[in-house]
Amino acid sequence: MQSFEIRSRFLSFFEKRGHAVIPSASLVTSNEKGETNATLFNTAGMQPLIPYLLGKPYLIDNREIKRLVNAQKCLRTVDIDDVGDKTHATFFEMLGNWSLGDYFKWEAIKWSYEFLTNSVDAPDGDKGLGLDPKRLYVTVFAGDSDSGRDDESAKIWESIGIPKHRIYFKDAASNWWPAVKNDKENNWTGPTGPCSEMFYDITKEGLGDLTQRQFEQADNDQKVVEIWNDVFMEFEKKMGKIVGNLSKKNVDTGAGLERLATVLQKTDNIYDTDLFSPLMAVAGPMGRDDIRRQRIIADHIRSSIFMIADGVRPSNTDKGYILRRILRRAIFCTENKKINENEISSFVEIIAKVIYKGMYENIEKQKEEIVEVIFKESEQFRRTIDKGLKEFDRITSSSRDTDCISGKDAFILFSTYGFPIEMTKELAKERKIEIDEKGFENEFERHQALSRAGASQKFRGGLADADDPMVVRYHTATHLLHQALHDVLGENEGNQKGSNITSERLRFDFTYGAKMTDEQKKKVENIVNEKISAALPVNNLIVPRAEAEKTGAKHFFGEKYGEHVSIYFIGLSSNQPSVDDSKNAYSKEFCGGPHVKNTIELAGPEGRWRFKIQKEEAVSQGIRRIKAVLV
Ligand code: SER
Repeated sequence: MQSFEIRSRFLSFFEKRGHAVIPSASLVTSNEKGETNATLFNTAGMQPLIPYLLGKPYLIDNREIKRLVNAQKCLRTVDIDDVGDKTHATFFEMLGNWSLGDYFKWEAIKWSYEFLTNSVDAPDGDKGLGLDPKRLYVTVFAGDSDSGRDDESAKIWESIGIPKHRIYFKDAASNWWPAVKNDKENNWTGPTGPCSEMFYDITKEGLGDLTQRQFEQADNDQKVVEIWNDVFMEFEKKMGKIVGNLSKKNVDTGAGLERLATVLQKTDNIYDTDLFSPLMAVAGPMGRDDIRRQRIIADHIRSSIFMIADGVRPSNTDKGYILRRILRRAIFCTENKKINENEISSFVEIIAKVIYKGMYENIEKQKEEIVEVIFKESEQFRRTIDKGLKEFDRITSSSRDTDCISGKDAFILFSTYGFPIEMTKELAKERKIEIDEKGFENEFERHQALSRAGASQKFRGGLADADDPMVVRYHTATHLLHQALHDVLGENEGNQKGSNITSERLRFDFTYGAKMTDEQKKKVENIVNEKISAALPVNNLIVPRAEAEKTGAKHFFGEKYGEHVSIYFIGLSSNQPSVDDSKNAYSKEFCGGPHVKNTIELAGPEGRWRFKIQKEEAVSQGIRRIKAVLV
C-alpha cells in the first residue's frame, strides 16, 4: 500500500468517527499561535497541540472540537548518529487521532485495532490496513508509584481479540509518555500518562506466540516493530514531576508513517519505501558507493527542504544551526563534498511533485528559494572545507597522544571552519579517534551566552507563555510591527520570516534587502505607538478558509491551513466583527493568538509604555531582524 493511501485512509477512518481533520502545523515550533516555543522543532504529533491537551478549548467556527485527526510533520535529531541504518530518519510524519476530554481508553484501543486490521476493501471511511491480527502484540503499563497497573487497557485489548499471552506489561521507560523536554533545565514538562503500544511481526515465517522475554528479544532484533502508540493523558508534569491531574483526560495516539509504510510495503528498511526510494535514486550516485552515506544524503536533504520551506535559514544558532548541521553533513557525505543545483532541484521536485504531491504547497511555491539556500550553503561550506580538513589533520596529529579531540578544538573546527560537530565526529570515527562532545557542548553554550545576551531566552516561557500578560502584549505588538513595516518599507517588503517572543521582548525576522535607516525605524515606531494610543479593538474570527483568504489577511511560513482559520483583526470599526467588515482593520493575520483585547493594553498598567526598536540587524541575505520592547 502506498504511503499516500495509508495517510488518507487514516484520516478518513477517524473523520468518519467524528474527528475534525486538521492540517499539520509548521515543523518549527512557534509561540505565535499559543504554542510552546521552548523546543526548536516539533518532535511528536502532540507538541503543537500541547495548549489544547492542557485544557485550552480547540475552536473551529467558535465551536469547541473534541476529536481531531492529523498527520504532523516532525523532526528529531537525537538519533542523528543512527541515520543511515534501516530505521532512523530525522524528518517523519506522525499520524495521530486526538480526544480532548472526550473518549478515552476503550474507543482509542478499539479504533487502533480496527484501523490496523480492517480489510483493505472495506467501505470508504472503514478501510483499514489489512494487517494480520495474529501478528500483533501489545504492551501496557505495568504500574509504579505514580500510577497503578493499567489492567483496564489490558482487558480492553483482550475483549477485542488479542490473546492475554500477547499482552505484555512494561515499565515507565517504555510505556509512559514522559511529556516533552520543554523548559530551561530540559526537564519533562506538559501532559503525560501511561501508554499502550502496538507491535507487528515482520518476519517471513511468523513468530507466533512469544513469552515476554522472547517478545523483548524480537523487539531488539527488529523482528517486531512498534507501529502505534496510544497515550492516555491524565496528568500534568512540571520540571520533571507530576504535579496533578489534567482538567480533562485526553487521548494522544501516534503512528509513524515511515514505519507503517515499511511494514505494508514489506521492505526491511524505510529507505526502500515509496517515501524515500525516489530520493535514493538521486542520492545513490552522489553517495560514494556507500549505502549509509546515500541514506544520510536522502534523509538530511529531505529534512532540510522541509525546514527551509517552513522558514528556517542556515545560521550558527538555534534552528538555523540544526539546519546547517544537517545540510553540511549531507554535503559532506557526497563524493565531491558539494551538491549542484540540478541535484537539489531534483530533490525538491520529487518531494513536491511525487512523494508529497499536493500536500505541502509551500515547498513547490518556494522551490527556487529552497534550491538557492541549499546551493549557497554548499558553496559557503566548500570555501572552508579544505582549510578545515587541514586543521583537522593538524589537531589530530598533535593530539595523537591522547587519541581525543578536545571540546575546544572541536569548537574551533565549528566556529572558524564551519564544521558541524557531527562532521567532526564522523571524521574522528573514520580515524578511530575519540572526541570530547561534552566539552564541545560547553564551549558552544559559553559562546552563545557571550555572543548573544538573549541566547537562553528561547528556553524561557515555555508553557507559561500563553498565560503571561507580557508575552500576550508582545504577540499583539508583533502584529502591529508587521503591518507598520509594510507601511514604511512597501507592500512587498517586511514579510514575516520568523518570530520569537519572551516576556522581555519581541524578535521579528522579515524580508528587506537593506539596513533600515534611522528615519524608517522612527516611522515604524511612531506608527505602532499611534496604534497603541488609538486604543484599537483586537478581534478574533474563526472562518472557513475560502472566506479567510478573501479578507486578504497575512499568512506566513508558507503554512498549509485547515478548513477553518483563525484570524486576528486589529482596529475593526464595528464591534460586531465580520469578514465583510475586515476592510477597515489596520492589521489582519491568520493566527491562533493569544492577543490582548485592546491595543491600549500595550501601554502597560499606567498607560505610559512606548514601543521601541532596540536593534535592527541582518540575519542572512535579504532577511533582517528587529528586537523591540515595550518600555
Ligand atoms: N506522543 C506519542 C508519541 O509520540 C503518541 O503520539 O509516540
